[in-house]
Amino acid sequence: MCGIVGYVGNKEAAVFLLEGLSKLEYRGYDSAGIAVYDGSEIRVEKSVGRLAALKDKIGSNMPKGSLGIGHTRWATHGRPSDSNAHPHADCSGDFVVVHNGIIENYLNLKEELIEKGHAFRSETDTEVVAHLLEEVYHGDFEAAVRDVLRRIDGSYSLVFLSKKHPDRLICTKQDNPLVIGLGEGENFIASDIPAIIQRTRRTFIMNDGEVAVVTKDSVTITNRRGEPVQKKVFEVNWNAEAAEKGGYEHFMLKEIHEQPKAVRDTMSQRIAKDGSAIVIDELKWDAAFLNSFNKIYIVACGTAYHAGMVGKYYIEKLARVLVEVDVASEFRYRDPIVDENTLLIVVSQSGETSDTLAALKESKRLGAKTLAITNVVGSSIAREADQVLYTWAGPEIAVASTKAYTTQLILFFMLALYMAEIKKTVSPERVKELIKLLKQIPAQVSETLSDVDPIKTFARQYGFNEDVFYIGRSLDYDVALEGSLKLKEVSYIHAEAYAAGELKHGTLALIVEGVPVIALATQKSVYEKTLSNIKEVKARDAVVIGIAAEGDEELEKYVDHVIKVPETDELLIPILTVVPLQLLAYYAAITRGCDVDKPRNLAKSVTVE
Ligand code: AGP
Repeated sequence: MCGIVGYVGNKEAAVFLLEGLSKLEYRGYDSAGIAVYDGSEIRVEKSVGRLAALKDKIGSNMPKGSLGIGHTRWATHGRPSDSNAHPHADCSGDFVVVHNGIIENYLNLKEELIEKGHAFRSETDTEVVAHLLEEVYHGDFEAAVRDVLRRIDGSYSLVFLSKKHPDRLICTKQDNPLVIGLGEGENFIASDIPAIIQRTRRTFIMNDGEVAVVTKDSVTITNRRGEPVQKKVFEVNWNAEAAEKGGYEHFMLKEIHEQPKAVRDTMSQRIAKDGSAIVIDELKWDAAFLNSFNKIYIVACGTAYHAGMVGKYYIEKLARVLVEVDVASEFRYRDPIVDENTLLIVVSQSGETSDTLAALKESKRLGAKTLAITNVVGSSIAREADQVLYTWAGPEIAVASTKAYTTQLILFFMLALYMAEIKKTVSPERVKELIKLLKQIPAQVSETLSDVDPIKTFARQYGFNEDVFYIGRSLDYDVALEGSLKLKEVSYIHAEAYAAGELKHGTLALIVEGVPVIALATQKSVYEKTLSNIKEVKARDAVVIGIAAEGDEELEKYVDHVIKVPETDELLIPILTVVPLQLLAYYAAITRGCDVDKPRNLAKSVTVE
């Protein structure tokens, strides 16, 4: 997520802009910039790297003026660089814009604008908005902004500055946060409350489609149809730390709840408009490429490794290509069979995990083609791999990975389906059916988040047990592994995940009265077998919490509690099943008074082997 600030008032804009951006640093970013109107020109200062680099660049020569906008960039399109940093201007320098989100149709718009003679300075989707505004502007600033909004698709929060209208800023949002801070003789705009909380606690929270014209003494808001909107003032009573978490108690909980948007953003640009196919412009693979290798390795660590296990299932099931999955710290030392006929897929939220990076470099040395799935544009792994597919989950701050996992599953599913389309291993009808179900996933993830009370109860009831087991078969087993890792790393409970059919080969000896067992039973193809494993543990007086699909009326006869997730194809249901397991781990950690966002012994990115 990028950070946005704007100022219009009677003081020096640059002072607030830099102060506000510093309050947004926690979100993670790779470059920063500000633009200030000094009475004749708009001065733009921007720099790759931290905010300190921008301040060094500005030095004592602070931009003068009381109208300005600023931005910290979390790159999605275009690597981190000075030129890709925001704010972005049009050809004339009359208009400047900052943006958070993704303009899905920017490539088509960019081609149109280049044909009309516009010269672009960056690789970003955002710069298209500045040139589009220049193209459609005929004297009425707000009307031109509305015209731009009619032309762009995607998710965005946008703030526009024009030297032709030096008494105002215009801002708007769609699927991304934007707030207006109400001051005395000055007003503030920000993507997040922490940026303005030192200046004012009186705010307007913008809603999708609303357009605000902000001067130093007025805020005029209208809706998509141009009708006036009367806003209630929202008094912010959070302290600064709480504000960084958007009102959630921890980043982990915030990021669990960000999953519907993260999942939507990750899939949104990669589905054909008519829903008939997956389109992955970043790859442009063809049958020749797919037939050029005889093995795929998926290599990763921790949660990313668990996502890779699901990815293996997807690719083998849909594209019928043999896949081997390994943890990065093992892969490199087992003298793997890697050559120019190998495709290596590495998965890494941070893009900096040393074990994974080392496996990638070794495989490249042995001749493999390489693809990285990562959440950080310009990360070491992104730069090292031949090709990159980005999850668009936004910054993940909590050590425990949650939204990265679900967006990795989405990406693996789309990659597998994309490969299946090329290899024609799945019928066009089935492709359409799966895409239709895929598009329902963001709303279904929201549904799994809508009632957390039963999970809070289980966490309180069983949160002081020292041993918990997770069992499942097929994809349920893969998700069980992720669920047990979540519980271990944030609550310090010793949790183990087992293939349900494997219990009787030894581990069943540990199942005694009162031991909690989380049994995942969403995979219809192995449901009866899973049920018999559940009966095995119940016969030893375990306490069983079952995870089932909505329509399952059978499971509750055999378990102590049931958590239901919405019905969908058994290939897609893991993206839903993991959510209650993430919440269970979170609330168990709360019950035990653990440091949820920074668990003992752990780091967010393990950059040592
Ligand atoms: C997951 O919750 C853990 N924080 C950890 O296992 C993590 O997934 C692993 O270190 C890999 O990190 P990466 O995705 O950034 O490479």
